[in-house]
Amino acid sequence: MPAEIDVEVYRTDKPIHAAHEVRRSVFVEGQDVPEAHEFDGNDQEAILVVARVNNEVVGTARFRSPEPGVGNVEKVAVREAHRGTGVGRAIMERMDAIGREEGVSTLSLHAQTHAEEFYEKLGYETVSDVYMQVDIPHVTMEKQL
Ligand code: COA
Repeated sequence: MPAEIDVEVYRTDKPIHAAHEVRRSVFVEGQDVPEAHEFDGNDQEAILVVARVNNEVVGTARFRSPEPGVGNVEKVAVREAHRGTGVGRAIMERMDAIGREEGVSTLSLHAQTHAEEFYEKLGYETVSDVYMQVDIPHVTMEKQL
């Protein structure tokens, strides 16, 4: 039987170290994303989620809504050893629930192009051409809630 994925939501301006650990490992160490980009000072105005399996921290993401009606899904990351086991889907389903709770009608994200199909499976559509962000090709994708 697959292990249960527990996704916890943090609505606090205190730093969530578990989320930072995953982002450091996946983006800063795994993808050479600059620290200053990854830890951009915007966590305090965000809702963070942390996914755990058997109490081990395996994934994270962030929700922000600087623009009324639109929720930005950011910093979606699953530790390499746990990819392909449904953790990303569980995180994104929680993002949908947060978006509804926060009253936004659109979710928007900057997808690394290798993850475009992952987001498509979760109901997102590509709405931009490819552009570079921290030397990684991205597209903007949106989902209507
Ligand atoms: N390309 C195509 N399909 C993918 C995919 C990919 N890169 N990653 C996952 N999928 C598919 C799965 O096969 C699964 O399909 P199914 O429901 O038909 O079986 C579905 O998407 C859900 O997969 P899941 O196991 O929940 O995804 P994951 O836990 O592996 O998380 C990422 C996906 C992209 C978040 C993860 O690979 C990751 O953290 N990558 C590194 C960081 C990163 O690039 N983040 C995205 C920044 S925009």
